[in-house]
Amino acid sequence: MVRGAGVGPAGGVRIRPAVLEDAAAIARVHVDTWRTAYRGIVSAAYLRSLSYGEFEKRRRERLARPETCTFVAEARGQVVGFATAGPNRLADAQYDAELYAIYVRKAFAGRGLGRALVAAVASRLAADGFRSLLLWVLRDNAPSRRFYESLGGIPAGEKSERFGRQDLPHAGYGWPEISTLQGVALPAFPAQNAPPSGPSHSKGAAMVTAKVLEAVNEQINNELVSSYTYLAMSAHCSNGHFHGFAKWLRIQSQEEYAHAMKLLDFLLNRGGAVKLNAIGEPKVKFKTMQEVFESALAQELAVSKRIDALYELAQKEKAFSLMVELQWFLTEQVEEEKSARDIVAKFHLIKNDPVALLEMDRELGSRGPEKG
Ligand SMILES: [Fe+2]
Ligand SMILES: [Fe+2]
Repeated sequence: MVRGAGVGPAGGVRIRPAVLEDAAAIARVHVDTWRTAYRGIVSAAYLRSLSYGEFEKRRRERLARPETCTFVAEARGQVVGFATAGPNRLADAQYDAELYAIYVRKAFAGRGLGRALVAAVASRLAADGFRSLLLWVLRDNAPSRRFYESLGGIPAGEKSERFGRQDLPHAGYGWPEISTLQGVALPAFPAQNAPPSGPSHSKGAAMVTAKVLEAVNEQINNELVSSYTYLAMSAHCSNGHFHGFAKWLRIQSQEEYAHAMKLLDFLLNRGGAVKLNAIGEPKVKFKTMQEVFESALAQELAVSKRIDALYELAQKEKAFSLMVELQWFLTEQVEEEKSARDIVAKFHLIKNDPVALLEMDRELGSRGPEKG
């Protein structure tokens, strides 16, 4: 990790990558916050038995591992919080990265440090090529769960972990698109505090031209419009008691938001000015469930055309990095069109058979966070 890549100041607090010499300070934050946050959840004897020395040893080992990253929040030269992440420790096809730990001293809670640490870690993981993020939190740790939910984390299962002699239930939270977390920091703590790395961040990357800038900003708006529309569709289905359709559409809405963030980060990483345009009121009235998904398909076809046009412009403007970025979108659109088309085809098959409709609602409701 490189020293001196931190950001701030904001009230004397800054976020920076951790170095080996931070191990002891991180261990103290770790043990102290466990003792305050886990009181009443984990046995008092176990919390008393925690040793700074042991935690420091483990921290040193982890800091030495290049595949993991750790950031610290520093206030007046003192480490008051940290976050550490790396490859998912469980073989999991859905989430490739894991946030192993994030703790902020109680005295510094509520100042946006947790968000800033998450954003820092997410930026680094994304730059290292990770796509998605998972974490585990003690099931009974309500404040932490609220925090992850406020960051858009979606439930990702349960597991049990041993704390001394206790087996304690843990809840998983996942972010199918890590890019959605890069922008969660409050303005005082910019998200882009990881030193850029990887080919898409190469030094001296050409600034985007005015035409490209305008077109990408427009596409950010298109993706947000899609997100908003899917959300309206989801609410409509929920009101009609089709909770499976509603769930599918809500996940879709989150994915569209992630697409917008991907493009937004593209602009930010190149120093391009982001201009967020107004989002119109989405259509909220549909006669049938079939009509909802027909609208979804129409929307995907329209988005595909826009992505194609954007790619053409990128070619014309010789915006090579945008072309690379858009390749992901082109592939994504093929998938998005296919899933919407499949669903519409099924509606045509089942016509108005209520049993088949309910079965389909159940099937779509089983959609995992990434794809249906
Ligand atoms: Fe999209
Ligand atoms: Fe889409």
